[in-house]
Amino acid sequence: MNHETSRSLYDRALSVLPGGVNSSVRAAPQPYPVFADHGEGGHVADADGNRYIDWIQGLGPLLLGHDMPESVQAAVQSRAAEAPMYGMPTEIEVDHAEFVCRHVPSVEMIRFVNSGTEATVSAVRLARGVTGRNKVVVMQGGYHGAQESTLVEGDADHPKPSSSGVPQSFAQHTLPIPFNDEAAAREVFEEHGDDIAAVLVEPIQANMGIAFPESGYHETLEALCEDYGALFIFDEVITGFRIGGLQCAQGRFDVDPDLTTFGKIIGGGFPVGAIGGKTEYIEQFSPTGDVFQAGTFSGHPVTMAAGLETLKFCAENDVHDHVNSLGEQLREGLADIVADHAPAYTVVGTDSIFKVVFSRAESDPQGDPCSNGCRQDPTCGRYGECPKRGTDVADAETERYARLFRPAMVEQGVLVSQNQFEANFVSYGHTEEDVEETLEAYKEAL
Ligand SMILES: Cc1ncc(COP(=O)(O)O)c(C=O)c1O
Repeated sequence: MNHETSRSLYDRALSVLPGGVNSSVRAAPQPYPVFADHGEGGHVADADGNRYIDWIQGLGPLLLGHDMPESVQAAVQSRAAEAPMYGMPTEIEVDHAEFVCRHVPSVEMIRFVNSGTEATVSAVRLARGVTGRNKVVVMQGGYHGAQESTLVEGDADHPKPSSSGVPQSFAQHTLPIPFNDEAAAREVFEEHGDDIAAVLVEPIQANMGIAFPESGYHETLEALCEDYGALFIFDEVITGFRIGGLQCAQGRFDVDPDLTTFGKIIGGGFPVGAIGGKTEYIEQFSPTGDVFQAGTFSGHPVTMAAGLETLKFCAENDVHDHVNSLGEQLREGLADIVADHAPAYTVVGTDSIFKVVFSRAESDPQGDPCSNGCRQDPTCGRYGECPKRGTDVADAETERYARLFRPAMVEQGVLVSQNQFEANFVSYGHTEEDVEETLEAYKEAL
């Protein structure tokens, strides 16, 4: 496969963009990333004219794939033609808000912003404003965007910035605990309960995973928040409208968060974020409340049109059935391949997300209970060994993934996640043929 144009574009990019990219993960592919030219359904073509089955799908927003259905395209074009934006309220923002409030069980009101990061920044500020407390519990290996309160590593006793530029005095307000560890959650509340403003958690750890929650884990977090007067924040930037269909992951897991952060799919491929939740909390945002929140581009009419029409298309078509069924075929096929070729590895994911973690388990391959992706099921023979949290994935064979496996997939015309930590995403544009070709490529590359 010829990558000369990508190579020379990357050469130019390195002179004017740090690391040649505008978001770090895009520079992860070895030896350099391919540059996208255009999309087509579940496929993407690069700058050299190579065509790939694309499981990156914009890192999650493209639930419908690269082709916008006619209704989405028409809405985007007519909104853009009317005027790019106004700095005044528009009807489409109300329509979109009504759709989300109607479908997502815990969401009574919503504030739209421009990215998932902005959503989690505002949600944390809101929780601090509402409770008058400073500390926020996060999960080790979780990701909530490029923001000061969550770029923190270590543990609850020794939190420290995970990025240069984040003051230690900020990090000390963040309490990282291990995901899927109820005892650690209880302990952090016993020690700091009166100072904790919120628990911020991804329903499924999907940025350094994929790690599925153990049965009852979210209920425990929810109950602790309630007992101690903290807010329970579900970060559904990835899972929102992907896991659990239109009810999102909170519907799937039957939990009732106080606040939910959204991004990705709700913008239909355009920049977006949102904070939804109970009226008593969301109304604490300015102008009704004292927690300042604002943005020139928030509720951008083109984004709102793309997002709303995307969600309406999902409501009126078999989108979730289609993507979930292909996801299942992929996970089951991968479980068989992994059992033959790399029995130590773990197939993870649910609904329309999937991945093979290059884990180093020593026992038999994954058993029946988890043949469609690890469920943290205590009856599975590998329960003790499969990755339980994002941080376990860091112990996997990440170099093998980056240097050998992923380049071999690219050469076979399949784009999988840009590093070992991100998820792969199925879209409505993918087909059973894409699944079969991808499974063949895994067989070769593993
Ligand atoms: C769970 C989660 N929260 C927040 C973010 C940040 O969103 P954005 O990249 O739109 O700022 C991400 C991004 O991947 C995410 O996965």
